[in-house]
Amino acid sequence: MSGISFPDLSPLERYKLLCGVVVPRPIALVTTLDENGAVNAAPFSFFNVFSEDPPLIVLGLQHKADRDLKDTTRNIHRDGEFVVHMVDEALAKAMNDCAVDFPAGSSEAAAVGLATLPSVDVRVPRLAAAPFALECRRQVVLSFAPGRESLVGEVLRLHAREGLIDTAKMYIDLAAYRPIGRMFGNLYTYQRDTFAMDRESHAQWSARMDAGK
Ligand SMILES: Cc1cc2nc3c(=O)[nH]c(=O)nc-3n(C[C@H](O)[C@H](O)[C@H](O)COP(=O)(O)O)c2cc1C
Repeated sequence: MSGISFPDLSPLERYKLLCGVVVPRPIALVTTLDENGAVNAAPFSFFNVFSEDPPLIVLGLQHKADRDLKDTTRNIHRDGEFVVHMVDEALAKAMNDCAVDFPAGSSEAAAVGLATLPSVDVRVPRLAAAPFALECRRQVVLSFAPGRESLVGEVLRLHAREGLIDTAKMYIDLAAYRPIGRMFGNLYTYQRDTFAMDRESHAQWSARMDAGK
């Protein structure tokens, strides 16, 4: 037998394989507003950027075991607005605390002591401590199964902590940013150890091969 057939696996087995294999994944700490104005905050690592034109991100929103919606999902369904915060080393513990299953209606941001600032294009406040905050509007919700949905959001605006972006070149200072990534289970990774590789044209590649390098 060759390979592992996914239809033959349980959802938990698929989860463990996919989350262990596709690593590291970035973490979106997402704020939304509940119907009473409480600032909900929760982390999502089924998350990535999909496109820059239009600027799109995607979130994988799993429903609860009883198929009830998570607060983040319910709030985005209602308002269509949210803010994605990137997570750095300093924000890691508060991010993890935001995943505690606080009762609906409570503000994780307030409970874990995260101060908020007003956003510009959306009503949902952003977290002052985040290195980057992306104000987003729901574009489309894709429902593949009763237990989950994929939410595509358009990025309307980026807020950055002072000193993280060289706006003349649109370069990010990675050493100052210090993002973390999610491995699997309760494992996380630093992103401090990087290396560079230039992408060559075919002509450059051929010349290098001819030179025997
Ligand atoms: C690092 C991390 C990543 C997570 N990623 C996801 C995810 O991609 N999708 C999801 O549905 N839940 C994810 N969770 C779980 C939610 O954060 C958790 O269910 C949270 O309580 C939801 O809060 P809410 O009900 O306020 O939206 C993750 C938790 C952690 C700690």
